[in-house]
Amino acid sequence: MLNLSIAPCTLAIFGASGDLALRKLMPALYRLELDSLLHADTRILALAREDVGSASVHLALIEERLRQQVSAQEWKPDVWEGFCRRLEFLSFDFTRAEGYRTLAERAAGDHPLVAYFATPASVYGAICQHLVDAGVGERTRVVLEKPIGRDLESSRAINDEVARHFPENRIYRIDHYLGKETVQNLIALRFANSLFETQWNQNHISHVEITVAEKVGIEGRWGYFDQAGQLRDMVQNHLLQLLCLIAMDPPSDLVADSIRDEKVKVLKALEPIAMEHLATRVVRGQYGAGYSEGKAVPGYLEELNANEGSGTETFVALRVDIRNWRWAGVPFYLRTGKRMPQKLSQIIIHFKEPPHYIFAPEQRPFLSNRLIIRLQPDEGISLQVMTKDQGLGKGMQLRTVPLKLNFSETFHTERVPDAYERLLLEVMQGNQNLFVRRDEVEHAWKWCDQLSAGWERFGERPRPYAAGSWGPGAAVALIARDGRSWYDDL
Ligand code: BG6
Repeated sequence: MLNLSIAPCTLAIFGASGDLALRKLMPALYRLELDSLLHADTRILALAREDVGSASVHLALIEERLRQQVSAQEWKPDVWEGFCRRLEFLSFDFTRAEGYRTLAERAAGDHPLVAYFATPASVYGAICQHLVDAGVGERTRVVLEKPIGRDLESSRAINDEVARHFPENRIYRIDHYLGKETVQNLIALRFANSLFETQWNQNHISHVEITVAEKVGIEGRWGYFDQAGQLRDMVQNHLLQLLCLIAMDPPSDLVADSIRDEKVKVLKALEPIAMEHLATRVVRGQYGAGYSEGKAVPGYLEELNANEGSGTETFVALRVDIRNWRWAGVPFYLRTGKRMPQKLSQIIIHFKEPPHYIFAPEQRPFLSNRLIIRLQPDEGISLQVMTKDQGLGKGMQLRTVPLKLNFSETFHTERVPDAYERLLLEVMQGNQNLFVRRDEVEHAWKWCDQLSAGWERFGERPRPYAAGSWGPGAAVALIARDGRSWYDDL
């Protein structure tokens, strides 16, 4: 159990009957309850639209979904009862003033009010305005879910609306990847070990791969996803955040803005992908029918509620270059997709070959050190080093051997906490480290916008790939063009 002292707050979840609240937020809060990490006075206001029905219907919905998420050992009737005692239900139209008076009464007291917007961004402005009008603005922290807009312009408009009512130091923009234990660990790995930091530049690193693959398809989210696509849904936020954590300079301390300043420098240094490079540096894909875990699965265009003509991408691979001293000449290859063969998030740092080669020429292609950072599943780090194969008859035969650290074995953790557990705790404590600042979001959009503009200009349609494969063949060609291949030791 963590040794944390968490201050009390009132947590108001707007959209408490929606998918995010039921799938992520409620299970995270229940587990915090289970680990005794919620202050005794913390209360949770579950705010839903008017059509959800009575409090008991909403509660039954929460319980049903929660039981699907938590394991049998985690389900404890007394913990659930304690959790229910914190919960209060309200349903009202978030765009009208009336409901906010009751909300203000229920949130009376001196504790901070954490207003979690698990709603479409189109209502963020209205919610902010009504919170201020109801007189609770001064003690409110607002938590914004992604996507914040669909391009730089719409993102600015949303951020402006929120900023009209709340200062930046009370705005918490979620990118749940920043709450993942292993993503946090990147900071420790890089800045608590001088071993890596001295090698972390273009003198020693040849290239970096970042893969975020999902086995699932669209899972009933077609309406939302089709408006976004993989570039906006995953690259603009999660993949660029991972890239920033790998590429940024050491911050001077762990204060939120010190880390965010360094991330912004990376985002500003991303080389725009020129139109003439669009075809060779970026690949868009869309999954067709195929197999997942041996079962036939439909293609993107055959999913529930799909629009047959959609040209939205479910896969993106790209080569990204960073214009600064540390990374000049070191490509970052990113790929992310739905309906891949497995769920896998990993970062691979490929080190350069030694400057002078003295071993048998046929062994040369295998010679290079790699640092593999596995974010999920089997969280851990593995450093591949070259050694001599053992035995009298082997001569100077080289072998790649991993030096491995598996987090769950080493720390005997039964369960890696979900990102939302950590993020909720951080916002309850008023700590902005793991949240994204406005300029980060906007620089990331600016960079992604040039790609979507290029696709639109050339009317480029995504390339098909079979569900259950690693994406279109063009993604292999993208990296092969530089004489490399994706690391697929799975
Ligand atoms: C979300 C995306 O932000 O991240 C989803 O909207 C995606 O499309 C999800 O499935 C992946 O998160 P995780 O934690 O399962 O890797």
